[in-house]
Amino acid sequence: METTSHAVLAEGLTKRYGATCALDDFDLTVAPGTVQGLLGPNGAGKTTAVRILSTLLRPDGGRALVAGHDVAKDPRRVRRHIGLVGQNAALDEAVTGRRNLILFGRLFHLDKRRAARRADELLERFDLVEAADRGVRQYSGGMRRRLDLAASMILAPTVLFLDEPTTGLDPRARNEVWEAVRSLLAGGTAVLLTTQYLDEADKLADRVAVLDRGRKIADDTPDRLKRELGGDRIEVVVREAAHLQPALRVLALVTEAGGEPLVDAEERRVTAPVEDRVAALTHVARVCREEGIAIEDIGVRRPTLDEVFLRLTGHRAHEGDPDPTTPARPDPSADPGGRGDPSAPPDPSAPSGKEVAHR
Ligand SMILES: Nc1ncnc2c1ncn2[C@@H]1O[C@H](COP(=O)(O)OP(=O)(O)OP(=O)(O)O)[C@@H](O)[C@H]1O
Ligand SMILES: [Mg+2]
Repeated sequence: METTSHAVLAEGLTKRYGATCALDDFDLTVAPGTVQGLLGPNGAGKTTAVRILSTLLRPDGGRALVAGHDVAKDPRRVRRHIGLVGQNAALDEAVTGRRNLILFGRLFHLDKRRAARRADELLERFDLVEAADRGVRQYSGGMRRRLDLAASMILAPTVLFLDEPTTGLDPRARNEVWEAVRSLLAGGTAVLLTTQYLDEADKLADRVAVLDRGRKIADDTPDRLKRELGGDRIEVVVREAAHLQPALRVLALVTEAGGEPLVDAEERRVTAPVEDRVAALTHVARVCREEGIAIEDIGVRRPTLDEVFLRLTGHRAHEGDPDPTTPARPDPSADPGGRGDPSAPPDPSAPSGKEVAHR
């Protein structure tokens, strides 16, 4: 075993598929007990990075240590210390939630009693006690994803890989999954979470790496990333054009240093960059009411992933995407690392079929 204080340490990882460079000289460090976000649009290389780090795919270049073990030289050891929740669930629909967890425990060589005890602990931890004896077929999307998370935690992994854990979930279910991920951190697990949602990375991650066509183009805390990108903007739509100028003066009170309020007369909208979104919103709403400025709509808007991309790269997230009518992944068998982890989903590289989140 090589010693390292990092849960994940990757240096110069590279993976090519023909002319496509799926991952290009990718470096990453993840500290124990933290969440590292990996943010990028379809085809950015997120799943490729996760598959290499979870030993399912061999890189063409570079090296990576996960839980202190080299993914290429010692994949078995790595697998003992990781959990993986892929883009597709690995659950048995025909049996109950509790039974699923017991089956996973047995797969990991726990005896019957220990498997049952671990299942109960995890049901409790992921708030599934009430649903434990119902068939998974009856579970909501959020419950399934939580059960998936529980299954990946059977052996209390040092590093957990979550590949787009909230894709396709409604806002309530996303919140449930976020809560579940937060609860993992208490146990010291390091999480590498891929997402196409800026707000998800913002809510969960201690640090966020942004991927663009296989290249890492930023790696920072969500706050610093957003600050660098201009951050939150307050938007006010006034009922009458005559109120535009007074509203502009109110917004000037909360505009962040160096920023400038803007007017869109046609939409009767004024906007301004702000530092503290809640303080700005409450202050503007109060002062407008006091001054008799009739507001039709008010809100604070966070930058979308598209805006992040535009600022970082000068091009839109979807510009130059491959033609969706041509198969993006012609070679699903390219898997020389083998698939020793029974918690691995059927195909974590399967396309999610989801677009970048727009507000
Ligand atoms: N087995 C494969 N054969 C050929 N090309 C592949 C293969 N796997 C991935 N690619 C290509 O590598 C690039 C990165 O794909 P990857 O699946 O890592 O992206 P992603 O960021 O996970 O995207 P998504 O958000 O759609 O899941 C894409 O251009 C993809 O088409
Ligand atoms: Mg993917």
